[in-house]
Amino acid sequence: MTFLFNSDARRGAIFADTFARELPDVPFTMDAATVDPDTVRYLISWTVPDNLARYSNLEILFSIGAGVDQFHLDAVPANVKVVRMIEDGIVRMMQEYVTLAVLALHRNLPGYLTQQRAGEWADIAQLQAGSRRIGVLGLGQLGQAVLDRLKPFGFPRAGWSRSPRRIEGVTCHHGELGLDEMLAVSDVLICLLPLTEETRGFLDAELFAKLPKGAALVHTGRGPQLDHEALVAALDSGHLSAAMIDVTDPEPLPLGHPFWSHPKVILTPHVASVTQPASAALAVIENIRRYRVGLDPIGLVDRSRGY
Ligand code: NAP
Ligand code: GLV
Repeated sequence: MTFLFNSDARRGAIFADTFARELPDVPFTMDAATVDPDTVRYLISWTVPDNLARYSNLEILFSIGAGVDQFHLDAVPANVKVVRMIEDGIVRMMQEYVTLAVLALHRNLPGYLTQQRAGEWADIAQLQAGSRRIGVLGLGQLGQAVLDRLKPFGFPRAGWSRSPRRIEGVTCHHGELGLDEMLAVSDVLICLLPLTEETRGFLDAELFAKLPKGAALVHTGRGPQLDHEALVAALDSGHLSAAMIDVTDPEPLPLGHPFWSHPKVILTPHVASVTQPASAALAVIENIRRYRVGLDPIGLVDRSRGY
């Protein structure tokens, strides 16, 4: 009943210590070359290993990250449960990043950086927070957590999901009609959708046109959700005012791509939130305990939805 860790050695060492302390009856290994494949019941990885079929007794495939789009789910046998990472470190870092981004865009940071480079000392008209409306695409673990963290600033907050949600203090929209309603009142739009066939290319020219003039974008979902050319066109036309982008397609972004130097774009290299091994190991152990007593692991992926 072995747990196989297929990721970087630094995080693996922390997982190994935590397993030895908290779940000593489950042998832990990082050594795929020497493990008896028939003993592997649990596997954690960022992508699906090419040789997955050799683990014929695998029961749970854990993602080391929050997203599972990098798994090609068709390549995973139907009897294997797929579980994404839900852990406090990822949530806390995403709350920090989105707060940073919303405040930077609210307080016109891209404009002031441009002025600084030009040696220009001048005010940019400033809205009060009560007039800057926030819209979050995706009301899952992360979407809800960032809305909660933004509460004290006083921004009017809204969110959109596939199924109806009720969140105190947040105007919740869902479905196709709900999307247009929310876009029309989103001065800062934050994307925290999982990448699925439905959300690929979602942030496109048609969507940008539905945002109020001067709106800004925070993209922390996945790169292939964003039409890069459409974003540059919307920024250049002045319809959108700025964007803070953490995820691109491809990654790393090739040198020379307009995002590197666009004065209205702040770019970070997919670092909005990163799995923290100490808390992630505890989350995985908790899920193995749940699974052993017949409960669903937290973060169990619904394969029919793709997230
Ligand atoms: P989650 O808990 O699964 O929530 C996903 C949300 O998106 C749900 O509210 C879901 O609606 C909604 N949704 C999915 N497909 C939709 C569709 N077609 N139409 C409308 N709503 C849809 O996911 P999460 O933990 O919040 O994470 C979201 C994503 O963030 C991850 O998948 C990952 O790609 C990204 N992420 C990025 C970073 C980074 O560093 N940039 C780090 C971590 C995660 P329902 O509520 O109706 O199901
Ligand atoms: C990072 O992008 C993750 O999915 O955890």
